[in-house]
Amino acid sequence: MSFLLEQCQFFELTDNLLDNCQPFTCGNDDLDDFFRNDATRYAYFLMGKSYCFRLMSDNTKIVCAFTLSNDSIRIYDLPRSRRDYMKSLTHHEKPLKRYPGVLIGRLGVGKGFIQQGIGSETLDFIKGWFYSSTNKTGCRFIIVDAVNDPLVLSFYKKNGFLPLFSTEEQEFIYTGGKRDQPISLSTRLMYYDLLQMRSH
Ligand SMILES: CC(C)(COP(=O)(O)OP(=O)(O)OC[C@H]1O[C@@H](n2cnc3c(N)ncnc32)[C@H](O)[C@@H]1OP(=O)(O)O)[C@@H](O)C(=O)NCCC(=O)NCCS
Repeated sequence: MSFLLEQCQFFELTDNLLDNCQPFTCGNDDLDDFFRNDATRYAYFLMGKSYCFRLMSDNTKIVCAFTLSNDSIRIYDLPRSRRDYMKSLTHHEKPLKRYPGVLIGRLGVGKGFIQQGIGSETLDFIKGWFYSSTNKTGCRFIIVDAVNDPLVLSFYKKNGFLPLFSTEEQEFIYTGGKRDQPISLSTRLMYYDLLQMRSH
């Protein structure tokens, strides 16, 4: 049984919707601030579109919200072994420098709803949406800059996402960090290969 599909309704996150709902709180101040104050401006400037599921029994309650933007994995910015692996995932007729994907720029589950499988259902929904044959463009990967917190990383791993870089050190260096600086990453890049949906 899917809580989101059976007990919630799906909407684009608009100013009008926000005005008619209780303030959305997922416990992460930056995310809360983004969904409340920035998400619709992002949409206006076509930089990211935000969506939410609202509870049917109380349509002032936002259960979860997320933001999506077009993105890609630039394979020549990856370490050689990972680049070769990514190349091996596709055909070789015309090698691409960038592999198409969609970025989950933000994702939050309302405080009263966490750890009940709703974040995972949201990821399933996004996977199905972009794997769908009605998708207008080729989209091979779902990409996320996951908050570098063990619980968040384990949430994405449980949902089939893999880190794009095998270690924090590697990611730090390949994303512009200097070898003599302490390693500090607030997020980890992760991806989900939508071709996996074929076997489901
Ligand atoms: C991360 C988040 C989206 C997960 O959504 P969720 O609905 O709680 O996740 P699910 O119930 O589907 O999955 C639970 C798993 O997520 C992980 N997890 C994430 N946050 C957790 C928390 N606060 N406490 C315990 N486990 C947590 C655990 O691995 C857990 O698995 P387990 O129950 O087997 O231990 C949600 O907790 C959230 O919105 N957090 C605040 C905002 C945030 O950090 N967003 C991520 C941005 S990249």
